Amino acid sequence: MEHNLPQRGSAKPLGREEASPREKKVFVKTYGCQMNVYDSQRMADALAADGFRPADTIEEADLVLLNTCHIREKAAEKVYSELGRIRLLKEERAKRGQETVIGVAGCVAQAEGREILRRAPVVDLVIGPQTYHRLPAVVQRAKAGEKIVETEYAIEDKFEHLPAPERRVVKSRGVTAFLTVQEGCDKFCTFCVVPYTRGAEVSRSVAQIVAEAERLADAGVREVTLLGQNVNAWHGEGPDGSEWGLGRLLFRLAEIPGLDRLRYTTSHPRDMDDELIAAHRDLGKLMPYLHLPVQAGSDRILKAMNRKHTASDYLSLIERIRKARPDIALSGDFIVGFPGETDADFEDTMRLVREVTYAQAFSFKYSPRPGTPGAEMDAQVPDKVKDERLQRLQALLAEQSRAFAESLVGVEIDLLLEKPGREPGQLVGRSPWLQPVIVDANAGRIGDIVPVKVLRAGTNSLFAERKVMSIKDNAMGVRV
Ligand code: SAH
Ligand code: SF4
Ligand code: F3S
Repeated sequence: MEHNLPQRGSAKPLGREEASPREKKVFVKTYGCQMNVYDSQRMADALAADGFRPADTIEEADLVLLNTCHIREKAAEKVYSELGRIRLLKEERAKRGQETVIGVAGCVAQAEGREILRRAPVVDLVIGPQTYHRLPAVVQRAKAGEKIVETEYAIEDKFEHLPAPERRVVKSRGVTAFLTVQEGCDKFCTFCVVPYTRGAEVSRSVAQIVAEAERLADAGVREVTLLGQNVNAWHGEGPDGSEWGLGRLLFRLAEIPGLDRLRYTTSHPRDMDDELIAAHRDLGKLMPYLHLPVQAGSDRILKAMNRKHTASDYLSLIERIRKARPDIALSGDFIVGFPGETDADFEDTMRLVREVTYAQAFSFKYSPRPGTPGAEMDAQVPDKVKDERLQRLQALLAEQSRAFAESLVGVEIDLLLEKPGREPGQLVGRSPWLQPVIVDANAGRIGDIVPVKVLRAGTNSLFAERKVMSIKDNAMGVRV
């Protein structure tokens, strides 16, 4: 029945007669963390419902969206150099009579808002992470010539309003997927912009998460990584009315047929509760890999960072986790050169790293971010000192991840085959510990989890051979 009520919920694709004569194309360029990768897909889904198809190259795009990161100065500045290139592109297209709408989304959009329009007048729209469901409407207005800054926190739940991707689209994205379960952060570490760019901590409901995971599994996804800036702080009301934590949620998701691997990132040491540790002990589908950033090994610096835990809290937590799941591999984030960090403080970080032993880690020079307490602190560390410390820390971390990879040589592991490798006849998958593994196998096996034996460790990946032939193979190793 016809009615005049404004349309709510997921936007329906426009009818053919309403669609523009030429197909509209969007190019989304993603910077920053996995949450931005997820958001870029959801933006593409929202725009697909409005008739936009993905562009193969930026040159052919009618709409260019930069999904940006504000975490360190370098990350934020990249956006402006990219916008410089895009300005030329827009001028070229205009000469050919083609209109181009340029949008900045993500954390730089949220942090800098209108300032972006001032620094880069080529930009038509600025949209913060909380309002992506409004993107199709915002793009329409930008096309009509309006300059738009949409960075208010929306009262409505954006996830309720973002359309689910079509099954075909999910399939085209592969056999692994991200699923954001939690956004924002209330921790206010003194170096970090996230509480300002992503707002207060919010958890999605169990029902929403389960429904999305079921849709992914139905489209052939075998591995889901739950995402959140503070993913292990996720909490929600379960169907029984009780409060669930992430551990309980993982047990529920493990019941979904077809979903064989579960991961989550990023966690804060303060929110690793007993139930989550028990999930690592009891849940075979939960991969034995945990990204648990500590940032620094000195209690004085941890306090100044407002991390709300000491080095020994962290070490005893690791001990509990390893007791529950002895084969767990640990990953972390480190910042060197936080204001006031002395040589002795830095040595504490080195000692902690030696004690924990990481399979993988990310380390950064402290970057003062406007508006955060760290940027105002005295005793900023000179860049040269930060460089030296970073080099030493990275050498140690590289040695540890190399040793971890070497320790797997000769070991039989389960490999989820994800995509074609560089050479014909090769596929690349991920080990339970997230390392890329290269193996000879035919493309028909993508999505299978196969036992392989690790032959050698390369610089960034492992090389393996298929172990036992599965029922799907004949004597020639060819799929029948
Ligand atoms: N939510 C995650 C981390 C988000 S940011 C957590 O709490 O662990 C990812 C990493 O970037 C952080 O763990 C930190 O190591 C690094 N980082 C954040 N702000 C930074 C800054 N101002 N300078 C350098 N590195 C920073
Ligand atoms: Fe940033 Fe700290 Fe929150 Fe992580 S926990 S997002 S580092 S404020
Ligand atoms: Fe960057 Fe925002 Fe993620 S600042 S790390 S894109 S939450």
